[in-house]
Amino acid sequence: MHAALLHVDALVKGYRLGRQSIEVLRGLSLHVAQGEMVAIMGPSGSGKTTLLNCLCGIDAPQSGTVTVAGDRIDYRDERARTLLRRKRIGQVFQFFNLIPTLTVAENVGLPLLIDRDRRHRDGKRVREMLALVGMSERRDHLPFQLSGGEMQLVSIARALVHGPDLLLADEPTGNVNPQVGRSIMRILRDTARRQGSGVLMVTHSPEHAAWADRVCFLKDGIIASELLHKGQADAPAPIHARLLALGI
Ligand SMILES: Nc1ncnc2c1ncn2[C@@H]1O[C@H](COP(=O)(O)OP(=O)(O)OP(=O)(O)O)[C@@H](O)[C@H]1O
Ligand SMILES: [Mg+2]
Repeated sequence: MHAALLHVDALVKGYRLGRQSIEVLRGLSLHVAQGEMVAIMGPSGSGKTTLLNCLCGIDAPQSGTVTVAGDRIDYRDERARTLLRRKRIGQVFQFFNLIPTLTVAENVGLPLLIDRDRRHRDGKRVREMLALVGMSERRDHLPFQLSGGEMQLVSIARALVHGPDLLLADEPTGNVNPQVGRSIMRILRDTARRQGSGVLMVTHSPEHAAWADRVCFLKDGIIASELLHKGQADAPAPIHARLLALGI
């Protein structure tokens, strides 16, 4: 593990609905190092998705700072935010967000195409990513011809195709079967270990959180506690037992 990659400091975010205002993030601070995989757990409605949306610049906090690979996200400059997201961040969503009219290979290549990345031309990078997630044989399928697990594997290939510094994943295993869930965890962990990316993953599953180096618990708008996973074994048992002991 090397230098800190993601720095979040004193993030405040709330929503206003008519006269009612909801405080979601109340001065939340967090960091993720290069090559580190961090899981975020927390009750439904605690602000996990809100946090990820602020980190990738889709949503803007009221105050606080977010720095990714040395670049501070400037929430007033939408264009700079979009470029930062395109270059440095990969995103995996709970409900895949694939484009229904594009094939698997076209969906995976889309970030390269949009960014006019020359790796798009010969298709090699897309082939590599499809091989990584075990979806080479489905390259010409449309999303509706895939299972939920396969859609999520394709969306992970798309999130990683440009080699992001930071991968943000919002419940990536929420809608897949246990076997695919484990494959996804293996891919995310290898992304951190082999490519040195930072991985920040939201999950409700103690079993999947146990794959992370660190588990952060979001409660009352801040990271209320953390568990470190020191064991690097393939079977992520010790932290899993501790999470279960905490009733999570
Ligand atoms: N656009 C919005 N307008 C108003 N309130 C919102 C908006 N988005 C989220 N909220 C509220 O903010 C709170 C946090 O929502 P968020 O989606 O971040 O929770 P979460 O931790 O991701 O929950 P889950 O585990 O169910 O996905 C919730 O109370 C939600 O109702
Ligand atoms: Mg959510």
